[in-house]
Amino acid sequence: MLYFIFAIEILFLLGFIFWVGSHLYSSIFHVPYVNATSSAIFDGLKFADLKKDENFIDLGSGRGDALIVASRDFGANASGFEISPLPFLLSKIKTWRRKNIKITFGDFKKSAEILKTADVVYLYLLNEVLAKIEDWLFENIGNNTRVVTLAFQFPKHQPIKISSTKNLGRQTKIFLYQKS
Ligand SMILES: C[S@@+](CC[C@H](N)C(=O)[O-])C[C@H]1O[C@@H](n2cnc3c(N)ncnc32)[C@H](O)[C@@H]1O
Repeated sequence: MLYFIFAIEILFLLGFIFWVGSHLYSSIFHVPYVNATSSAIFDGLKFADLKKDENFIDLGSGRGDALIVASRDFGANASGFEISPLPFLLSKIKTWRRKNIKITFGDFKKSAEILKTADVVYLYLLNEVLAKIEDWLFENIGNNTRVVTLAFQFPKHQPIKISSTKNLGRQTKIFLYQKS
């Protein structure tokens, strides 16, 4: 019995270390995995006019909420890229039954090939991260790809439309971009 309790405690401790480590890794080296609320994501994807069977990509897909909204509410084929282990694992668990969701573990810069086929790219990343990836992203998307960002914006490109929604209890802007 004592061994059993000890094993449970070790499991909890390892889980806690994994949770804290994953948060620290994301926050220090990339972007904290704060997930947008599903209703804000829905408003963003509606604003981008995401349609059934279109290809949707979330760069930094976190726990997979945007992928679920895109697949479940819009009937899109959704792909996500996530670099932090814990949100990646959670997103795989949450979406394992959805055939039209694919999630890749690792840096979203691996997505250059699939980006060419994207109809809508969604990003909920910080301004400084958007600034770093702006040239790379706009070089790799097609002329008709719609790019939608929640709360943050690219420094060089002008949005073609701006809307707003409520995210995490705050009024938040949604920016829509297109290459040409
Ligand atoms: C603010 S969260 C957004 C999560 C989700 N897209 C949403 O809207 O709720 C940003 C996510 O991007 C991930 N991320 C940051 N840089 C990344 C990179 N270079 N490659 C893949 N994922 C990255 C972080 O780990 C984090 O989970």
